[in-house]
Amino acid sequence: MAVHVSRHPLARHLLTELRDVATEPARFRQLAWTLSTVLILEATEHIATQDRKVTTPLEETSGSCLAQGLAVVPVLRAGLSMLEPALQLFPDVAVGYIGLERSHTTAVAHSYYCKLPDLKDRYVLLVDPMLATGGSAAQACSLLRAHGATKLVMASVISAPEGVEALANAHPDVDVYTAVVDRQLNDKKYILPGLGDYGDRLYGTH
Ligand code: PRP
Ligand code: URA
Repeated sequence: MAVHVSRHPLARHLLTELRDVATEPARFRQLAWTLSTVLILEATEHIATQDRKVTTPLEETSGSCLAQGLAVVPVLRAGLSMLEPALQLFPDVAVGYIGLERSHTTAVAHSYYCKLPDLKDRYVLLVDPMLATGGSAAQACSLLRAHGATKLVMASVISAPEGVEALANAHPDVDVYTAVVDRQLNDKKYILPGLGDYGDRLYGTH
């Protein structure tokens, strides 16, 4: 498994403001939107293309167009913040939803919802901003594989080394595109330094 850490200065700028405890939900959602756009662009770098001719007002030239369907699958709830940016970039995308929630006591995620389109031959992009223990991502990837996903990548905002390792063990062929790999998890399985609970920061819940 490869982990691609964004090298774009804008990604680091946005991430720093997202981390700030003083950033309120309205601003957090804006920052999350823009950072998701950067990460989704990077995560779709290997989508298949084909050559096509195009005629400009002056002459004919060679060009390229997307030749592979894309499916985006957010993990509810925080992953929803990465869906609209994906739809803006790729209006023809197919969308699936996976509902997973970590237990507050064990940090083990349980599945409460799954609705997926046909994934065969598509470039499948799993989006979830936090890769902490990796339990949610590994479960989500298993569901996607069971529904026929072959080419599968994940975009996350912050990844923990523990989550990267767990996902690599469970799904070695899934590449991760992330803004940062943070230091470690704390004893409650939150990412350090992290930014707290992404869903709560997005929606103002506690
Ligand atoms: C968060 C996050 C991931 C998960 C990551 O969701 O959005 O889905 O935790 O943790 P893991 O790698 O240890 O599994 P959470 O369960 O808090 O649900 P929410 O998005 O509904 O708040
Ligand atoms: N989920 C979050 O939202 N934040 C973390 O730090 C870990 C899991």
